[in-house]
Amino acid sequence: MNQHIKKVVIPVAGLGTRVLPATKSIPKELLPVVDRPLIDYVVAEARDAGIEQIILVTGRGKSAIEDYFDHAFELEATLKAKAKGDILAEVEKTIPRAGDLSYTRQQAPLGLGHAVWCARAMVGDEPFAVSLPDEIVPHRPGFLRQMVDAYEEVGGNLVAVEEVPKSDTSKYGVIAPKVRKGALIEMTGMVEKPKPEAAPSNFRIIGRYILQPEIFRLLETQEKGAGGEIQLTDSMNKLNSSQAFHACVCVGVIHDCGSKLGWLQANVDLGLKNAELRDALGDFIRERIK
Ligand code: G1P
Repeated sequence: MNQHIKKVVIPVAGLGTRVLPATKSIPKELLPVVDRPLIDYVVAEARDAGIEQIILVTGRGKSAIEDYFDHAFELEATLKAKAKGDILAEVEKTIPRAGDLSYTRQQAPLGLGHAVWCARAMVGDEPFAVSLPDEIVPHRPGFLRQMVDAYEEVGGNLVAVEEVPKSDTSKYGVIAPKVRKGALIEMTGMVEKPKPEAAPSNFRIIGRYILQPEIFRLLETQEKGAGGEIQLTDSMNKLNSSQAFHACVCVGVIHDCGSKLGWLQANVDLGLKNAELRDALGDFIRERIK
């Protein structure tokens, strides 16, 4: 039996340069989509996948994220006094059980691989998930749930992928597929941000991973790669040659809210799924595109 995935590492130390100046004084993970911040969607997706422990790898200027997951006594008391019980219930839903959320800090922006490595002591010697909070899945089952289900069948390591236009490969990690069986693809390798002419395929890596703890030993000595950063993809590429590793084509869409267009699309998509907003938003969009 494959070991149950109990922990997810969520790196939240990134500078959010693609959506500046919006992220100059608020963490990009707190940008709202409809009425909830990005981080809330990613944590909810992890819980829905049966994950119990959330490990946030944070950094300077990100303490508002910790406040988001804590009680706001003044606010809660005011909502209670004003008999706004329904809003209070929504606010309280965001707070995890004490001890279910832990934080560690990445002290310098050395790359995603380094951020994940910072969580090594909290993860310990067990398989774990990684979710990047830029990307949100607007439906259930979420991508992490689909990956945990696949992991229970095949074990090893998994990375989520989707097809993108070849011209976009330089924005992402890209896999070199070998054999595909249903949703799962065995790979000959992975490469971070290849130019379109050098890309081994148009399957880009999505920010959802299930990894074995051996990744930490590889990250420990991982030399800098694309963009001068310690890349998770480079260590995963090494792990692919010694352990089972599959790319997983998940069902559904994922919105990359680290880009302006992706963030707008997420708001429209989730706005249209929201019972209160759907009709008025639909009318507004139809009117605008006439
Ligand atoms: C990171 C990963 C990349 C992946 C992407 C998904 O890149 O390094 O492999 O495709 O996330 O969002 P970043 O967006 O941090 O540059």
